[in-house]
Amino acid sequence: MDYDYHIFCCVNERAGNERVSCKKKDSHLFRNYIKQKVKDKSIQNVRVNQSGCLDKCESGPVIVIYPQGIWYKCESFKNADDIVDSLITGEIAQHLLIKN
Ligand code: FES
Repeated sequence: MDYDYHIFCCVNERAGNERVSCKKKDSHLFRNYIKQKVKDKSIQNVRVNQSGCLDKCESGPVIVIYPQGIWYKCESFKNADDIVDSLITGEIAQHLLIKN
């Protein structure tokens, strides 16, 4: 099945402190929140998955949405709300974009 939005939320956690990781910044909570909101709002053709490290750790918690290739930083439930709203409106949440 092709999804309109396939959302990958990094939930990677590193044991050491050599590099920051998303789960240490509560990414798993934001992932669960987004998944539930998509369900509650009955947004169709969207899948929310956990992912391993997406190699933008310092910019995290990191979310990437395909096929659009949109990279977001999601560090609060308000950010998560804005991301879900962007799925409904089709407009990119510019303030959350991770700049490469
Ligand atoms: S730990 Fe999340 S991008 Fe690396």
